[in-house]
Amino acid sequence: MSGTPALQRPYAGARVLLGVSGGIASYKSAWLARLLTLAGADVDVVMTPAAREFIGAVTFEALTGRAVHSEIFGAGNALDHVKLARSANAIVVAPATADFCARAASGQANDLLTAILLAASAPVMLVPAMNDHMWAHPQTKENVAHLRSIGYHVVPPDEGMLAAGEGSGPGRMPEPEAIFAHAGWLLEDRRALGGKRIVVTSGPTREPIDPVRYISNHSSGKMGHAIASAAWRRGAEVVLVTGPTNVAPPPGACVVHVETTEQMRDAVARELPNADALIMAAAPADFRAAAVADQKIKKSAAPAAIELAPTPDILASTIDARRVGCTVVGFALETTDVVAHAREKLSRKQLDLIVVNDATEDGAGFGVDTNRVTLLSRDGRDEQLPLMPKRELADVILDRVVRLMDGR
Ligand code: CTP
Repeated sequence: MSGTPALQRPYAGARVLLGVSGGIASYKSAWLARLLTLAGADVDVVMTPAAREFIGAVTFEALTGRAVHSEIFGAGNALDHVKLARSANAIVVAPATADFCARAASGQANDLLTAILLAASAPVMLVPAMNDHMWAHPQTKENVAHLRSIGYHVVPPDEGMLAAGEGSGPGRMPEPEAIFAHAGWLLEDRRALGGKRIVVTSGPTREPIDPVRYISNHSSGKMGHAIASAAWRRGAEVVLVTGPTNVAPPPGACVVHVETTEQMRDAVARELPNADALIMAAAPADFRAAAVADQKIKKSAAPAAIELAPTPDILASTIDARRVGCTVVGFALETTDVVAHAREKLSRKQLDLIVVNDATEDGAGFGVDTNRVTLLSRDGRDEQLPLMPKRELADVILDRVVRLMDGR
């Protein structure tokens, strides 16, 4: 997730029902409740009785500013399950314990949360978290397969450290930021890009000089990864071709890892014939060492200069692989005559849209979470955008991509 949800409130007006069942991972659900609330959603927390053994309702109440529900019986609660189920735009159960998955899979309604699932028509996402043996048990597998078959979106557990003394294995609940991204997928209108295949490139590439050194640039991959995330949330099938970055891979995207510009070109050329759009947010290295040394170059034998050779221009060299009507977006990072240079690239690389940023501006460009860009279109419409988080910019760019696709 790039940027701070607090600044963007993308889910203002949405109502998310966060179900918490009784597992040790429920401490992470407090942060998830916070992320959803900061993103503008009204978060109704529903705890199973077992969850209350692990974490206090008051924690969720303080984080969401709303009442926490857990009783199915008792005066005044009689229709809570129906009211809560009907008002939710999305239901997220995190953690979903082995017991909760079993009860949900067999249609039980013996506590408020399972009753809500039966009464709900909103999309449901389950985030199982349990001991690795419990996760591997054939009964759990059958329960989870059934839950998927009835339309629940199941986020598989991560592999990693389990509860104290239990070592590591698959069963650990994913981090709240990852669950938050999946929740966005539930909340977003997925019709806009449903059925579309979008290829996004991201990050820098690396050109080796010898086995330990390389030529590269400062690209962080934040912009490309944010676009891939946003496209997936809007329903697209996303292939993310990425150079080396420290940004977490976006959920839902098929990720192709590459090192060099030539490898990135080959991956793009492979994906392009089936793509409805190509968004080239990567900063591929433009030069490589003309000759790569087989062994580490010793300091004592350092050459006075390294001869460089150009790498292939990915956009230009894959034009013939584009299918008719493919929407193509490029990026340009300039330091002088910003708009003039970008307009020339727009036409030379046969783009529909180019996203231009001035590398000399504060808060724009490499490494930071924000960007200030100008959008130049093939039809001559220029649009100067204010400084904004990259996550928000990703959505603006996708709005334009959808418009371009619809116009075809
Ligand atoms: N790009 C590409 N292949 C390359 C280098 C860049 O396809 N080898 C793409 C980038 O992903 C971006 C667009 O081309 O979408 C413009 O990149 P930029 O680095 O600004 O332009 P260059 O073509 O490298 O031109 P210059 O270095 O002269 O500014």
